[in-house]
Amino acid sequence: MMYLVINVRSAIVFESLHHGNTKQVAEAMAAAIGADLFYLRDRRRADLQDYDLVGFGSGIYGSKHHRDLIGFAARSRLRKGARVFIFSTAGLPFLSGLWHRALRAELTKKGVTIAGELCLPGYDTYAIFGLIGGINRGRPGEEDLERAERFARSIAGPES
Ligand SMILES: Cc1cc2nc3c(=O)[nH]c(=O)nc-3n(C[C@H](O)[C@H](O)[C@H](O)COP(=O)(O)O)c2cc1C
Repeated sequence: MMYLVINVRSAIVFESLHHGNTKQVAEAMAAAIGADLFYLRDRRRADLQDYDLVGFGSGIYGSKHHRDLIGFAARSRLRKGARVFIFSTAGLPFLSGLWHRALRAELTKKGVTIAGELCLPGYDTYAIFGLIGGINRGRPGEEDLERAERFARSIAGPES
């Protein structure tokens, strides 16, 4: 019997600067689906036209994704028919509908399909939370990373 294997080429572009929370999530997702990983601060050039599926993620800083990530998403040229997904870690992940708005708007302008969004809790010692020892200590934890892997697999499909 012959099988037709369709390879989805995927990339994950991310920024993570508070505690490396989003870095952990991005790495777990990339390993789960075999995605190429681009850490924006490394300045390694990502030509997103090479990819069928692209994930964009960062921590949430001042109610949105990192400005470099939003700028990169706005400037990037994506392949026709490419799908994207959005992810983040945040101190208050239950407000992700709000936190993802700016990046979602940039991606929507490009006419690409947003295949899914995920926001996980991330250790947060910013401002007032620092004074009380931070919130979400130990997050993302093992279960969060497993959730991230399942999320990425569900989007990339069974071939990944
Ligand atoms: C400058 C700054 C601003 C932040 N603003 C928000 C915010 O608006 N909403 C929120 O839920 N979390 C906010 N956080 C918490 C981070 O989103 C959270 O700690 C995240 O997991 C950091 O990810 P990273 O370690 O990958 O940078 C902020 C953190 C920092 C340092």
